[in-house]
Amino acid sequence: MTTSEQNRTAEQQEREQALVEQVVASFETAKDPRLKQLTQALTRHLHAFLREVRPTEAEWASAIEFLTAAGDITDDKRQEFILLSDVFGASMQTIAINNEAYANATEATVLGPFFVEGSPEIPLGGDISFGAAGQPCWVEGTVTGTDGEPVPGARIEVWEADEDGFYDVQYDDDRMAARGHLVADERGNYRFWAITPTPYPIPHDGPVGALLAAVGRSPMRASHLHFDVRADGKRTLITHIFVRGDELLTSDSVFGVKDSLVHDFVEHPAATPTPDGRDVAGRAWSSVRFDIVLAPAQTGVCA
Ligand code: BEZ
Ligand code: FE
Repeated sequence: MTTSEQNRTAEQQEREQALVEQVVASFETAKDPRLKQLTQALTRHLHAFLREVRPTEAEWASAIEFLTAAGDITDDKRQEFILLSDVFGASMQTIAINNEAYANATEATVLGPFFVEGSPEIPLGGDISFGAAGQPCWVEGTVTGTDGEPVPGARIEVWEADEDGFYDVQYDDDRMAARGHLVADERGNYRFWAITPTPYPIPHDGPVGALLAAVGRSPMRASHLHFDVRADGKRTLITHIFVRGDELLTSDSVFGVKDSLVHDFVEHPAATPTPDGRDVAGRAWSSVRFDIVLAPAQTGVCA
C-alpha cells in the first residue's frame, strides 16, 4: 500500500470499492457468459487503473477527447483504434495469446492496417512490385509443417511499402502495387521478386501520432515485408520478415519485431546475375531466404 493510500480514509476507500462492486454486479445479468466475464474484468481493471492514477476531472475529459479524435479520423482507409492498440502493444499481446509457441513454427506478428483483399495472383518467380519504386529483391524459401513435411499448394500473400515509405492504398489513385499472392509448388517451394523493404512511419498525423510525440517515441517501423500464409490443416500465419542490421529493429513503434523473424537480405552489386536470369536493368538487387514453418491447425497442448 502506498503512503497516499494509507492516508486516504477508510471511508473513502470503502466508497471507491463499493462502486467497483456495484458496477461489476450490474453485469451479472449478461446471458452470454463470455460477455459477462469481459465486462466484469474490464470494470475491475479500469477502476484499478483509475484508483491508481487518480485522474483529475480535466484529465479524464482529455482522455475522452482523445478517443473522440481517434473516432473522428477513422474511416474506411484510416483506422486510428488499430494504431492505438498497436502502439500500446495490445495487438502484439493478442497475437502472442492466440499464436502459442508450437515446436519450430514460424512466429506471428502484426497484420497492420494495409492488408487489402483482392491482390493479384503471380506465378512462381513472378514480381509483386507492379511498378512500385524500390530496389529489386528476390525472395525464396519453403513452406513446411512442424513435422518437416512440405506443404504443397500453400497460399502465400505478401505486401509491403514502396521505397518512399507508402503502401499503394496511401496514394490517391487506385493503384495496386507491391502486393500479390502465389502458391507454393508440389515440394512446398516458393520464389518471387519484391522490393527491398525500407523503414517507414505508421500514420502519425492524428491523435496516436500526437501521443507518441508527447512521450518522445518515434512512429517508425523497422523495414519489413508482410506475409499471410495459409494451407488446409495448418494454422494461418500472419507475419513479417525484417532486415538484419536495420537500426530500427530495437525500437519498432508497434513492438512487432521477433529475433526469429530477422533475416539476412544479401546485397548484390549491379551486373551480378540474378537467380532466374531476369534483367534488372543493370541495378543492384538483394535476396533473402525465408523458410516458413506452419503449426497444425489444432495445436492443443504445446509441443
Ligand atoms: C504496418 O506494418 O504496415 C503497420 C503496422 C501497424 C501499424 C501501422 C502500420
Ligand atoms: Fe507494414
